[in-house]
Amino acid sequence: LYIGIDLGTSAVKLLLMDADGKIKKIASRTYDLSFPHPGWSEQNPADWYEQSIDGLKELLAECDKSRVAGISFGGQMHGLVTLDERDEVIRPAILWNDGRTAEETDYLNQVIGKETLSGYTANIAFAGFTAPKILWMQKHEPDLWKRVKKIMLPKDYLAYRLSGTFCTDYSDASGMLLLDVEHRAWSEQMLEICHVEREQLPKLYESYEVVGTLKPEIAEELGLSPEVKIIAGAGDNAAAAVGTGTVGEGRCNLSLGTSGTLFISSEKFGVDAHNALHSFDHADGGYHLMGCMLSAASCNKWWMDEILKTTEYAREQEKIKNLGENRVFFLPYLMGERSPHNDPDARAMFLGMSMDTTREDMTQAVLEGVAFGLRDSLEVARSLGIRIERSKICGGGAKSPLWKKILAAVLNLKLDLIESEEGPGYGGAILAAVGCGEYESVQAACEKLVHVVDTVEPDPVLVEKYEARYQEFRKLYPAVKALFP
Ligand code: XUL
Repeated sequence: LYIGIDLGTSAVKLLLMDADGKIKKIASRTYDLSFPHPGWSEQNPADWYEQSIDGLKELLAECDKSRVAGISFGGQMHGLVTLDERDEVIRPAILWNDGRTAEETDYLNQVIGKETLSGYTANIAFAGFTAPKILWMQKHEPDLWKRVKKIMLPKDYLAYRLSGTFCTDYSDASGMLLLDVEHRAWSEQMLEICHVEREQLPKLYESYEVVGTLKPEIAEELGLSPEVKIIAGAGDNAAAAVGTGTVGEGRCNLSLGTSGTLFISSEKFGVDAHNALHSFDHADGGYHLMGCMLSAASCNKWWMDEILKTTEYAREQEKIKNLGENRVFFLPYLMGERSPHNDPDARAMFLGMSMDTTREDMTQAVLEGVAFGLRDSLEVARSLGIRIERSKICGGGAKSPLWKKILAAVLNLKLDLIESEEGPGYGGAILAAVGCGEYESVQAACEKLVHVVDTVEPDPVLVEKYEARYQEFRKLYPAVKALFP
């Protein structure tokens, strides 16, 4: 048996899989997300650990624990976790969707220069990446920074607590802006630019490599063998790609979680000349290009939970009848935007309302706005000559049939569904199976385990209607950009 831990932003989701890829059980635990200032976003690493352990106990409650062989992860990317010499967490983790580093991001992109950064790492700076957060901490919290002995990413904190190994993997490390993505090594130049010592950084592994075994005291607490292997795991998008079989050359996955991502796998290293898509290492030993919007399913969650004050998401969506004919637009920039605008100060808005605008129109506009945001990234990929006709889809938002219909039409893509939407958790379990020698490679495991069970075809009438709407949508951000400070 193999365990995949998806350390997300709203919750940790744990998945138990057998050697044939069958999902035996799923458990989840939520934790708080705090926004100490508008656009800032933090979490307590201790919450991740405690909730993961609690979730593991539920996950393992009825199974034969002696059969558990390996644990691996898909983790929210880019978050800055800092530990002192006693391995105490120094400050709350600064997360991937935190926009406080506009100044540091500008410094890196303008003073060091985009071309230089891209040459060293394959990427330019985005506010959510780890390097600008390190510069922010050095400037604003110098006393705390002085205590930093270890810098790690969210899932690596779990691996460290579980195994005692200070490690990360290439896919997740790619998002730090400290890694030379092409050559899979820390960039000496970036370490110098960011005043980071090599000893402060974790050891690098492939996502499917074993980093250690469970600490005996934790094994005992969970009733597991101390021989259980801990496998490095991947950033949640690379893990989700594994979980949907998006490996090898030219495959695509869409993830509709708190963030929304368009992920294109590749065997060859490549950089987006416009710097709008990230160029990162993949968990299968290859590479990928990725567009990331900061608020995707979270836009819908915000609209339902905070504004409509309802938990009946499906019932709200059932009332929507006029697909392609909505006059209302929603700009989905609740936490600023990453791809393709790279603007942490952008904010969300509804536009185009009239006296007859209804609640349904606004609900629909939220779903459409997220689809248009993903289309922005797809347009960048298309401008690079990448031809995509179909994509896998996963994440909480992929549970909505209406949203999938809108996405298929807006993106003009066939959307392939696999058995479960649990992309990163399933991918984590697959990486654990590969690490334990159950399969000879990530690709071989995906071929054997991941199957398409249904496809949402784009409706040609809607494709045409949404094409016209998208051409209007893409004029909106440039028109309102000056309003954001
Ligand atoms: C990717 C990104 C997000 C987080 C979400 O670059 O920032 O998708 O990984 O957990």
